[in-house]
Amino acid sequence: MRLAFTQDGTPTLFHPGYGEAYHPRQGALLQARRLYLEKTLTHLHPAPRVLEVGLGLGVNFRVTLESALSRGVRLRYLAVEREPLSPELLAKVRLPLPLAEEVFEGLLRLWPRERFSGPWGELWVVFGDVREAPLPRRWATAVYLDPFSPRVNPEPWSLPVLRRLFGATRPLGRLATYSAQGAFRRALKEAGFALHRVPGVGKREWTVGIALGAPRG
Ligand SMILES: C[S@@+](CC[C@H](N)C(=O)[O-])C[C@H]1O[C@@H](n2cnc3c(N)ncnc32)[C@H](O)[C@@H]1O
Repeated sequence: MRLAFTQDGTPTLFHPGYGEAYHPRQGALLQARRLYLEKTLTHLHPAPRVLEVGLGLGVNFRVTLESALSRGVRLRYLAVEREPLSPELLAKVRLPLPLAEEVFEGLLRLWPRERFSGPWGELWVVFGDVREAPLPRRWATAVYLDPFSPRVNPEPWSLPVLRRLFGATRPLGRLATYSAQGAFRRALKEAGFALHRVPGVGKREWTVGIALGAPRG
């Protein structure tokens, strides 16, 4: 894996197996903040519960943690990850997030493990494939759907997985993702989310889905 820098100065990794980087060239931190944190309204939530598909380098986790810590709210974060990175590699990816970095350094000393907790909140990591991973029912206030692109990593974007994510989301919870792919958007609606096309930063459109009504199935 090769370390590279995105345009906002924050690091990412290039995954040779997928032929893609973990973050867009416009900025790892920028996408985490402007898309995942803000488009799900997690930066305003008094008791955020985030479900993430693809913990990766933990950029989205750390941005969300920084927001929660700076607001004095506890974060509950459940991430599904089938290819966890080594603590040595994760330690190389430093971010300008002083509050979150201090907590993250402590987590890395114990990494990998399934459950971390502290005064800041809780992080659960389900080490497995999102197609089969056990997920809580009607739990998440926000879903960060952040696998590699549908072209090279199609499974997490499929209707069966989106149905599972819908079932794990609280009514009115928001799913955010960078992909604007047509087949994925149709599946998102089919799974029960109201589809919103939102302007992206450094990209024409992102996608937000709002879980309206009771989960199906
Ligand atoms: C684009 S990276 C995620 C970046 C990450 N969100 C961050 O903030 O650094 C995609 C991640 O999704 C994971 N992934 C891909 N397919 C998966 C699957 N079917 N189940 C669980 N994790 C998956 C990959 O291992 C990878 O870590």
